[in-house]
Amino acid sequence: MILLNRSAMIRQTQIFQLSWTRYLSKERVKPFDAMPGLKALPVIGIMHHFIPFFGTIGPKNNFFDMFEVLYNKYGPIVKMEGMLAKGTMVMFFEPDHYDKIYRAEESPAPLRMGFEALVYYREELRKERFDGVYGLTTAQGEKWREFRTKVNPALLKPKIVKLYAPGLEEIADELVSKLWKMKDHPEALSREIESEITKWSLESVALVCLGKRIGCLQDNLSDDHPAKALTYCSKSIPDLSFKLEFAPRFINKRNSSWFKQLMNIFDLQWEVSEKYIEDAKRSINEKGQATPEEDQSVLEKLLAIDEKVAVMMANEMLFAGIDTVAYAVTGLLYNLAINKEAQDKLRQEIRAQTSTKYLKACVKESLRLLPVLSANLRETSKDYVIGGYQIPAGTFAIAPNEYLSKLEKFYPRAKEFVPERWLVEKTDPIHYGNAHPMVTLPFGFGVRSCIGRRIAELEIETLVKRLLDKVEVQWTGPPLKVSTKVINSFKKPYHFKLVPAK
Ligand code: HEM
Repeated sequence: MILLNRSAMIRQTQIFQLSWTRYLSKERVKPFDAMPGLKALPVIGIMHHFIPFFGTIGPKNNFFDMFEVLYNKYGPIVKMEGMLAKGTMVMFFEPDHYDKIYRAEESPAPLRMGFEALVYYREELRKERFDGVYGLTTAQGEKWREFRTKVNPALLKPKIVKLYAPGLEEIADELVSKLWKMKDHPEALSREIESEITKWSLESVALVCLGKRIGCLQDNLSDDHPAKALTYCSKSIPDLSFKLEFAPRFINKRNSSWFKQLMNIFDLQWEVSEKYIEDAKRSINEKGQATPEEDQSVLEKLLAIDEKVAVMMANEMLFAGIDTVAYAVTGLLYNLAINKEAQDKLRQEIRAQTSTKYLKACVKESLRLLPVLSANLRETSKDYVIGGYQIPAGTFAIAPNEYLSKLEKFYPRAKEFVPERWLVEKTDPIHYGNAHPMVTLPFGFGVRSCIGRRIAELEIETLVKRLLDKVEVQWTGPPLKVSTKVINSFKKPYHFKLVPAK
């Protein structure tokens, strides 16, 4: 009897709790419309918020500055209506909030919107050429998963990527000797360093991709050298795409000169890379015998699996693998130049040749402070309730990683370059593990994270080893500033100085 009463009581309590929770959640979950942030106007979108003096935000050079204003003004969840042509963005300043979405979206295939113009180019304008194979940057859903499953092993297996090290060392040595020649000519160094690093980056990714040198580090490269066209494309595509994505709604984008220019640049990028790819395919066929795996380029490995995928992946590598790596290595050299102690410590490790732990920590720390992309992005495929708000399917969920990575609440001495935080014991207060694991994501998150990560890391490590062994890098000017055009870039001029290393 007593037992029965007890279970009846428990049931009563459960029913009461259930209805109370329902009541609570009804009360507390606010509609999407109630979320604070920037509202769009019918014709101009949100452009007016960025007008000098009058706009709520004002003009901003980079996403970091924009995120800072939005966070301070609106708090941890901020909505931006119509920021990108297609939808509404929500910026989450609490890692737990976007963590929930990013993890839930891992399966079956995370959605990350591609640039509208590139999607149009591949899926409409040059539909016949692509024939349904769109590449990682624009494919979605099952098409993306199928493509990614085919290319993952060739690009991401550390054992396979390491095999390119000797070729990358040769390329790094060429850049070092070119920079060395400029060390007594500061103006030339300041003028040339960006393009030399960009050419090194292209030469390196081309070697991994095509299995051959394309010769863009040679002296006096002629203006009609195809490598120049590729570096031009890799800079102009994000610039123009950015202008178009953020242009006010009243502009008919497809009729704009930017759009036409961009379509021509996509054609140029495709034609030049196609020539390189065809040339590499010819060399592979002419060999007539199977190459041992350790000598195969990414293209050769992928050709054995699926020709269309191989060509598309090679094309994307010759675009996505240029400015990204050039920016990352320039940022690292800058951080080492303004932190002489860290640079000396790194040089000691390089010369001892017994470990690369400090080098890897320097790369991570530099990407924490100067990431190539300020933020990560996922599109929600279903409805969520996050931080007390309803978030509908089709929302762009932004993780403002660069901004969060520089907050003291996640990293002590957050704005300083402290590679040690990636190496110290867990008990040390500066240990990186004290920050939420979703705060710093320079290569993105999960199954859709950067496919070029291992290649990029190897290229950067190889160059820094070769350079610092010989050269001390100094910085003689004011702090380096960042501007964002989809990917981050540095404002010129550069003030690097190179002196012989002791
Ligand atoms: C330091 C250099 C680099 C950085 C910091 C970087 C960063 C990123 C980030 C943040 C993403 C988005 C990931 C996500 O949504 O979760 C991405 C995607 C991608 N990256 Fe990189 N990247 C770098 C170098 C490269 C290189 C060298 C290549 C080519 C070999 C490359 C090719 C790609 C491609 C194709 C994607 C799309 C992947 C997909 O959607 O499946 N990246 N990268």
